[in-house]
Amino acid sequence: MHQEKIDFLMTLLPNIRMKYLNQISTMVTVKEDTFDNIVTDIDLKIQEELTSTLSARFPEITFLAEENDLQEVSDQMWIIDPIDGTKNFFRRNEDFALSIAYYEKRQPVFGFVYDIAKDLLYLGITGQGAWVNQKKMDRVKVRTLHESVLDMNLKTTFTLNAKKPGCVEMLSHEVFAHRSIGSAAISLCRIAAGSHEIYISSHLKLWDFAAAQIVLEEVGGIVILPYEPNRQIAGKSVLLLGCSSSKLYEDLKAILFISELTLPSKMNSNKNGE
Ligand code: IPD
Ligand code: CA
Ligand code: CA
Repeated sequence: MHQEKIDFLMTLLPNIRMKYLNQISTMVTVKEDTFDNIVTDIDLKIQEELTSTLSARFPEITFLAEENDLQEVSDQMWIIDPIDGTKNFFRRNEDFALSIAYYEKRQPVFGFVYDIAKDLLYLGITGQGAWVNQKKMDRVKVRTLHESVLDMNLKTTFTLNAKKPGCVEMLSHEVFAHRSIGSAAISLCRIAAGSHEIYISSHLKLWDFAAAQIVLEEVGGIVILPYEPNRQIAGKSVLLLGCSSSKLYEDLKAILFISELTLPSKMNSNKNGE
């Protein structure tokens, strides 16, 4: 039923990658009153190309897209981040991704995350599995906290510590290593691919993680969001915890006992059902 949309994107996304791969950004704009919230001309061009091509082919589907306030909630939605990891794109030219998810009746149906520099196209289809470059992904390995690599940025550290003083220090003594990739979509996909195990980020919007969440959950990973229906659909930012297994989530919960990251017991039993 959704195969037509998936096939269309399977052709469109590599074309967009080829077109913009070697383009140098010529314009960087500060979006709001904070100096570090930037957008480049390439973010805007990719979003424009995606939205115009998709709306010509599927006119009934609306967009929740990061740039230009293109945010119309409906029963059939594309959720788009044209470049997730704009600062990586701008400074390092790696670890940035194009992210697009398709939602129906506010539920995830499928999502693509394209790691542009590495040419890795992840696809997750709810209830069917996840693929990278069309190869089915295995279920993620269950690892202990001592074996886990944590991906978290400095701002999230402050947010967690303000909610539960000392928790980040405790966590730092328990994990194998920590890193900060700088693209929520890639971070979640790397957990799915087995190179990291934990990602925690405050202040994410739905377009940052909608597609990657599907990929990770389809290989047995866990994504915890505040249990507040429609908060993310309404465009509000959220605190997100992604990890490779429910066992790991239980261990993390004991350290980070933060209400937003704790599911009500009924949902907990569903999440633990693997
Ligand atoms: C950002 C990245 C980053 C996360 C920020 C997001 P952008 O998205 O995902 O890793 O820490 O909260 O806003 O601005 O590069 O699309
Ligand atoms: Ca983003
Ligand atoms: Ca972006």
